[in-house]
Amino acid sequence: MKKPIRDIMSIEKAYNIWADQYDTNLNKTRDLDKIATIETLNKLKFSKVIELGCGTGKNTIYLLKKADKVIGLDFSQEMLNKAKEKIQDKRVQFNRADFTTKWNIENNYADLITCNLVLEHVKNLDFVFDQANQKLKCDGYFFISELHPFKQYSGSKAKFETENGIQELETYVHHISEYLNAAKKNGFELVEIKEWFDEVNKAGIPRLIGILWRKNS
Ligand SMILES: C[S@@+](CC[C@H](N)C(=O)[O-])C[C@H]1O[C@@H](n2cnc3c(N)ncnc32)[C@H](O)[C@@H]1O
Repeated sequence: MKKPIRDIMSIEKAYNIWADQYDTNLNKTRDLDKIATIETLNKLKFSKVIELGCGTGKNTIYLLKKADKVIGLDFSQEMLNKAKEKIQDKRVQFNRADFTTKWNIENNYADLITCNLVLEHVKNLDFVFDQANQKLKCDGYFFISELHPFKQYSGSKAKFETENGIQELETYVHHISEYLNAAKKNGFELVEIKEWFDEVNKAGIPRLIGILWRKNS
Protein backbone atom coordinates (compact mmCIF):
# COMPACT_ATOMS: atom_id res chain seq x y z
CA MET A 1 0.00 0.00 0.00
CA LYS A 2 1.46 3.34 -1.03
CA LYS A 3 1.86 6.06 1.61
CA PRO A 4 -0.11 9.34 1.49
CA ILE A 5 1.81 12.29 0.06
CA ARG A 6 1.74 15.12 2.58
CA ASP A 7 2.07 18.08 0.23
CA ILE A 8 -0.67 20.56 -0.54
CA MET A 9 -1.86 20.53 -4.14
CA SER A 10 -4.69 22.78 -5.30
CA ILE A 11 -7.99 20.94 -5.75
CA GLU A 12 -8.16 22.00 -9.39
CA LYS A 13 -4.65 20.72 -10.14
CA ALA A 14 -5.31 17.44 -8.31
CA TYR A 15 -8.44 16.77 -10.38
CA ASN A 16 -6.59 17.66 -13.57
CA ILE A 17 -4.19 14.80 -12.74
CA TRP A 18 -6.89 12.46 -11.34
CA ALA A 19 -9.03 12.91 -14.49
CA ASP A 20 -7.15 10.22 -16.41
CA GLN A 21 -8.08 7.49 -13.92
CA TYR A 22 -11.23 8.93 -12.30
CA ASP A 23 -13.65 6.77 -14.29
CA THR A 24 -11.61 3.58 -14.16
CA ASN A 25 -9.87 3.21 -10.78
CA LEU A 26 -11.46 1.34 -7.88
CA ASN A 27 -13.74 3.89 -6.21
CA LYS A 28 -16.59 2.67 -4.01
CA THR A 29 -17.69 6.22 -3.23
CA ARG A 30 -18.07 7.14 -6.91
CA ASP A 31 -20.01 3.93 -7.62
CA LEU A 32 -22.35 4.24 -4.63
CA ASP A 33 -23.01 7.88 -5.50
CA LYS A 34 -24.26 6.84 -8.91
CA ILE A 35 -26.75 4.44 -7.33
CA ALA A 36 -27.86 7.02 -4.73
CA THR A 37 -28.37 9.66 -7.40
CA ILE A 38 -30.45 7.50 -9.70
CA GLU A 39 -32.59 6.12 -6.87
CA THR A 40 -33.29 9.57 -5.45
CA LEU A 41 -33.85 11.51 -8.67
CA ASN A 42 -35.87 8.83 -10.47
CA LYS A 43 -38.84 9.92 -8.35
CA LEU A 44 -38.67 13.52 -9.59
CA LYS A 45 -39.60 15.33 -12.79
CA PHE A 46 -37.11 17.92 -14.01
CA SER A 47 -36.29 19.75 -17.18
CA LYS A 48 -33.47 22.24 -16.59
CA VAL A 49 -30.58 21.09 -14.42
CA ILE A 50 -27.43 22.68 -13.05
CA GLU A 51 -24.78 20.14 -12.04
CA LEU A 52 -22.12 21.47 -9.67
CA GLY A 53 -18.72 19.81 -10.02
CA CYS A 54 -19.93 17.60 -12.87
CA GLY A 55 -16.44 16.10 -13.29
CA THR A 56 -16.19 13.49 -16.03
CA GLY A 57 -19.96 13.46 -16.51
CA LYS A 58 -20.75 10.24 -14.65
CA ASN A 59 -24.08 11.63 -13.43
CA THR A 60 -24.63 13.90 -16.45
CA ILE A 61 -25.32 10.80 -18.52
CA TYR A 62 -28.16 9.87 -16.17
CA LEU A 63 -29.50 13.43 -15.91
CA LEU A 64 -29.77 13.63 -19.71
CA LYS A 65 -32.11 10.64 -19.67
CA LYS A 66 -34.72 12.85 -17.98
CA ALA A 67 -33.74 16.49 -18.57
CA ASP A 68 -34.12 18.84 -21.53
CA LYS A 69 -31.01 20.84 -20.63
CA VAL A 70 -28.04 20.29 -18.29
CA ILE A 71 -25.43 22.90 -17.43
CA GLY A 72 -22.38 21.26 -15.85
CA LEU A 73 -19.97 23.49 -13.93
CA ASP A 74 -16.46 22.37 -13.04
CA PHE A 75 -13.13 24.14 -12.61
CA SER A 76 -11.00 21.21 -13.76
CA GLN A 77 -10.42 21.43 -17.51
CA GLU A 78 -9.17 17.83 -17.65
CA MET A 79 -12.28 16.47 -15.89
CA LEU A 80 -14.42 18.49 -18.32
CA ASN A 81 -12.42 17.17 -21.30
CA LYS A 82 -13.28 13.62 -20.23
CA ALA A 83 -16.95 14.57 -19.91
CA LYS A 84 -16.91 16.15 -23.38
CA GLU A 85 -15.28 13.04 -24.89
CA LYS A 86 -18.04 10.87 -23.47
CA ILE A 87 -21.05 13.11 -23.99
CA GLN A 88 -21.79 14.84 -27.27
CA ASP A 89 -25.31 16.09 -26.81
CA LYS A 90 -26.72 19.48 -27.75
CA ARG A 91 -28.74 19.54 -24.54
CA VAL A 92 -25.62 19.74 -22.38
CA GLN A 93 -23.34 22.70 -21.80
CA PHE A 94 -20.09 22.15 -19.88
CA ASN A 95 -18.75 25.38 -18.42
CA ARG A 96 -15.37 25.75 -16.81
CA ALA A 97 -16.21 27.67 -13.64
CA ASP A 98 -15.53 27.84 -9.93
CA PHE A 99 -18.93 27.58 -8.27
CA THR A 100 -17.62 29.19 -5.08
CA THR A 101 -17.80 32.43 -7.07
CA LYS A 102 -21.00 33.86 -8.57
CA TRP A 103 -22.61 31.49 -11.07
CA ASN A 104 -22.98 32.97 -14.54
CA ILE A 105 -26.51 31.64 -15.03
CA GLU A 106 -29.79 33.56 -15.04
CA ASN A 107 -31.85 33.56 -11.84
CA ASN A 108 -34.85 31.18 -11.55
CA TYR A 109 -33.36 29.05 -14.33
CA ALA A 110 -33.33 25.48 -13.03
CA ASP A 111 -35.81 23.06 -11.54
CA LEU A 112 -33.02 20.83 -10.23
CA ILE A 113 -29.50 21.47 -8.95
CA THR A 114 -27.30 18.48 -8.16
CA CYS A 115 -24.01 18.40 -6.29
CA ASN A 116 -22.20 15.07 -5.93
CA LEU A 117 -18.97 14.39 -4.04
CA VAL A 118 -17.94 18.02 -4.20
CA LEU A 119 -18.78 19.87 -0.98
CA GLU A 120 -15.94 18.24 0.97
CA HIS A 121 -13.71 20.60 -1.07
CA VAL A 122 -15.78 23.69 -0.26
CA LYS A 123 -15.27 25.67 2.93
CA ASN A 124 -18.23 28.05 2.75
CA LEU A 125 -21.48 26.12 2.30
CA ASP A 126 -23.59 29.23 2.81
CA PHE A 127 -22.47 30.79 -0.49
CA VAL A 128 -23.37 27.66 -2.46
CA PHE A 129 -26.83 27.41 -0.90
CA ASP A 130 -27.41 31.13 -1.52
CA GLN A 131 -26.53 30.78 -5.21
CA ALA A 132 -28.60 27.60 -5.49
CA ASN A 133 -31.62 29.46 -4.14
CA GLN A 134 -31.16 32.27 -6.68
CA LYS A 135 -30.76 29.97 -9.68
CA LEU A 136 -33.65 27.63 -8.81
CA LYS A 137 -37.28 28.21 -9.66
CA CYS A 138 -39.70 28.17 -6.75
CA ASP A 139 -40.42 24.52 -5.80
CA GLY A 140 -37.19 23.48 -7.58
CA TYR A 141 -35.05 20.77 -5.98
CA PHE A 142 -31.52 20.84 -4.62
CA PHE A 143 -29.87 17.42 -4.20
CA ILE A 144 -26.52 16.76 -2.59
CA SER A 145 -24.75 13.43 -2.22
CA GLU A 146 -21.55 13.70 -0.21
CA LEU A 147 -19.05 11.64 1.75
CA HIS A 148 -20.86 11.02 5.04
CA PRO A 149 -19.44 13.07 7.94
CA PHE A 150 -19.07 9.85 9.98
CA LYS A 151 -16.64 8.70 7.27
CA GLN A 152 -14.91 12.06 7.42
CA TYR A 153 -14.57 11.81 11.23
CA SER A 154 -12.82 8.46 10.72
CA GLY A 155 -10.25 10.10 8.43
CA SER A 156 -11.68 9.27 5.02
CA LYS A 157 -11.11 11.86 2.28
CA ALA A 158 -10.84 12.15 -1.50
CA LYS A 159 -7.57 10.59 -2.72
CA PHE A 160 -6.02 8.88 -5.70
CA GLU A 161 -2.86 6.92 -6.51
CA THR A 162 0.14 8.46 -8.24
CA GLU A 163 3.59 7.05 -9.05
CA ASN A 164 4.90 8.70 -5.88
CA GLY A 165 2.20 7.53 -3.48
CA ILE A 166 -1.35 8.40 -2.51
CA GLN A 167 -2.30 12.01 -3.29
CA GLU A 168 -4.78 13.21 -0.68
CA LEU A 169 -6.86 16.26 -1.47
CA GLU A 170 -7.61 19.26 0.71
CA THR A 171 -10.97 18.68 2.39
CA TYR A 172 -13.32 20.27 4.92
CA VAL A 173 -15.46 18.29 7.35
CA HIS A 174 -19.14 19.27 7.17
CA HIS A 175 -21.41 18.09 9.97
CA ILE A 176 -24.99 17.16 9.10
CA SER A 177 -26.20 20.19 11.07
CA GLU A 178 -24.11 22.48 8.81
CA TYR A 179 -25.89 21.21 5.71
CA LEU A 180 -29.31 21.48 7.35
CA ASN A 181 -28.70 24.95 8.76
CA ALA A 182 -27.24 26.36 5.52
CA ALA A 183 -30.27 25.04 3.64
CA LYS A 184 -32.82 26.42 6.11
CA LYS A 185 -31.12 29.82 6.20
CA ASN A 186 -31.32 30.02 2.40
CA GLY A 187 -34.98 29.16 1.89
CA PHE A 188 -34.98 25.38 1.46
CA GLU A 189 -37.29 22.83 3.08
CA LEU A 190 -36.12 19.30 3.71
CA VAL A 191 -37.70 16.63 1.51
CA GLU A 192 -35.52 13.58 2.23
CA ILE A 193 -32.34 12.66 4.07
CA LYS A 194 -30.74 9.25 3.69
CA GLU A 195 -27.55 7.40 4.63
CA TRP A 196 -26.04 5.17 1.96
CA PHE A 197 -24.04 2.10 3.04
CA ASP A 198 -21.64 -0.32 1.36
CA GLU A 199 -23.31 -3.24 3.11
CA VAL A 200 -26.85 -4.31 2.28
CA ASN A 201 -27.52 -4.90 6.00
CA LYS A 202 -26.33 -1.33 6.82
CA ALA A 203 -23.94 -2.68 9.47
CA GLY A 204 -20.93 -0.38 9.04
CA ILE A 205 -20.39 3.37 8.92
CA PRO A 206 -22.49 4.96 6.16
CA ARG A 207 -20.40 5.97 3.16
CA LEU A 208 -22.62 8.74 1.81
CA ILE A 209 -25.22 11.22 2.96
CA GLY A 210 -27.90 12.14 0.45
CA ILE A 211 -30.13 15.14 1.10
CA LEU A 212 -32.93 16.48 -1.06
CA TRP A 213 -34.47 19.92 -0.47
CA ARG A 214 -37.16 21.98 -2.16
CA LYS A 215 -36.87 25.75 -2.56
CA ASN A 216 -39.76 27.34 -0.67
CA SER A 217 -38.90 31.05 -0.64
C1 LIG B 1 -15.02 13.79 -6.73
S1 LIG B 1 -15.27 14.71 -8.19
C2 LIG B 1 -17.01 14.39 -8.47
C3 LIG B 1 -17.39 14.48 -9.92
C4 LIG B 1 -18.84 14.09 -10.19
N1 LIG B 1 -19.75 14.99 -9.52
C5 LIG B 1 -19.08 12.68 -9.76
O1 LIG B 1 -19.92 12.45 -8.89
O2 LIG B 1 -18.45 11.78 -10.32
C6 LIG B 1 -15.31 16.41 -7.65
C7 LIG B 1 -15.39 17.40 -8.79
O3 LIG B 1 -15.70 18.68 -8.24
C8 LIG B 1 -14.93 19.65 -8.91
N2 LIG B 1 -14.81 20.83 -8.03
C9 LIG B 1 -14.38 20.86 -6.74
N3 LIG B 1 -14.46 22.11 -6.26
C10 LIG B 1 -14.95 22.89 -7.26
C11 LIG B 1 -15.25 24.27 -7.39
N4 LIG B 1 -15.06 25.13 -6.35
N5 LIG B 1 -15.74 24.74 -8.56
C12 LIG B 1 -15.91 23.88 -9.62
N6 LIG B 1 -15.64 22.56 -9.56
C13 LIG B 1 -15.17 22.07 -8.39
C14 LIG B 1 -13.60 18.95 -9.20
O4 LIG B 1 -12.88 19.57 -10.24
C15 LIG B 1 -14.10 17.55 -9.56
O5 LIG B 1 -14.35 17.41 -10.93
